[in-house]
Amino acid sequence: MRQPQLANCSDPLDLILQEHDTHQSWCNLLEEIADTLPDSVDQKKAHRAVEILKYDLPLHHSIEEKALFPVLMKYAASDDNVGEIVAHLNEEHVVDESFAEELIEFLEVLANGKLLEDANMFGYMLRGFFENYRRHIMWENSIVLPLARSRVTAEGLRELSSLIVEQQTHFRNTQLSHCSGNCKECKKKS
Ligand SMILES: [Fe+2]
Ligand SMILES: [Fe+2]
Repeated sequence: MRQPQLANCSDPLDLILQEHDTHQSWCNLLEEIADTLPDSVDQKKAHRAVEILKYDLPLHHSIEEKALFPVLMKYAASDDNVGEIVAHLNEEHVVDESFAEELIEFLEVLANGKLLEDANMFGYMLRGFFENYRRHIMWENSIVLPLARSRVTAEGLRELSSLIVEQQTHFRNTQLSHCSGNCKECKKKS
């Protein structure tokens, strides 16, 4: 369920589309957790959900906010209303990340094999999150990516690729600098 890397995908818009496919499976995972509350949640799945919300989601947001959206704004036509679309999506990213922070606290309890005091409330929060997130993905896939496909030139796509690599590298380095030796990258090296 790892997010695709640009090296494995020559077209940066296809990469984002592939990431969105991965995100559909994140939503399914969160739904599975919600369905198995209060006492049958798989600890490994809860742990994976923590990783997704802590690391993968902010990386994807950063790729969109610092790479895709600026390139799209640069190449869009003035009547595409891209400013409005991007502002709306950025707002949703902020809301989702703050929502995700709350979810992480509960998921960490489940990942440690403990029961939640208020599993009903958590289930409600979790469902609110993944239902909104599915809508967000659908909106980006049906409006933003087709618009980018029709407006961004070959030169713009190259620019987008290098901005994406910049974000991926920045995130990997940030993650490693906070690592206690237990992350996937360190385990891969050992
Ligand atoms: Fe987004
Ligand atoms: Fe997205």
